[in-house]
Amino acid sequence: MTGRVLMEAKGVDIRFGGVVAAHEINIQIHEGHNLAIIGPNGAGKTTFLNICTGYLKPHSGQIFFDGADVTKLQPRHLVRKGVARAFQIPQLFTEHTVLENLLIAAAAQSRRWAPFVPMQRIPERDMMVELLGMVKCSHIADRPVSELPEGQRKLIDIAIALALKPKLLFMDEPTSGVASSEKFEVLDIIANALTEAKVTAVFVEHDIGIVERFADEVAVWNRGEVTFHGTPGDILSHPDVIRDVIGEEV
Ligand SMILES: Nc1ncnc2c1ncn2[C@@H]1O[C@H](COP(=O)(O)OP(=O)(O)OP(=O)(O)O)[C@@H](O)[C@H]1O
Ligand SMILES: [Mg+2]
Repeated sequence: MTGRVLMEAKGVDIRFGGVVAAHEINIQIHEGHNLAIIGPNGAGKTTFLNICTGYLKPHSGQIFFDGADVTKLQPRHLVRKGVARAFQIPQLFTEHTVLENLLIAAAAQSRRWAPFVPMQRIPERDMMVELLGMVKCSHIADRPVSELPEGQRKLIDIAIALALKPKLLFMDEPTSGVASSEKFEVLDIIANALTEAKVTAVFVEHDIGIVERFADEVAVWNRGEVTFHGTPGDILSHPDVIRDVIGEEV
């Protein structure tokens, strides 16, 4: 795989009691190449995302971002450097409207939390309105989040992540909980927004159809190790991957 290396894991190990959730993970994430992570349940995919985003510290090994060692940084410091993540279950205030959620996130992110500033006057308001447009949610700006299907909640979560102006965005199963009829449309919107914002994505995904359509590279996780990494064409047709991973999904 070629291209500028945005993030790199070198010899990353982590254990939980007797469980080896990451063992000698060596992988490069290339700028502009969306990377899909696939693998069976419990393989260590979420653990890897947690390590890359600062939520877990490896027992050994290092994480580099833009050439600098970021292994010991906390999530908020990584965010400032350009590494963001979206959550499997969007962390939204469901009783508030979509736009209010974006404005609350903007105020919290700016670390200038001022509960008495009217929503209309939050300085990031224009940017948030623009981001809502980028994820095709302008028409639901005034709807309470509680009324929305999971797909639209995911899109709002992505808009909030994009407000951090990341270079690299980690997404853990971005289509989980989304009705299968809506999955492709939701991922299409996310992929277009990320391209427009020039953000490289790393996403964990169980749906191989989604992987084929949206990934430029695929990495296979198994028992805490990266067993394959390459183009979707090479990896998804590999007999071992079909036997160990794809066979489980169908
Ligand atoms: N905080 C933790 N404490 C103890 N064990 C953990 C912890 N986090 C993960 N594990 C264990 O580490 C292994 C890898 O878990 P992880 O959640 O990374 O897998 P995954 O590939 O994301 O699985 P899934 O596809 O089910 O989401 C599992 O055996 C899990 O039980
Ligand atoms: Mg997981």
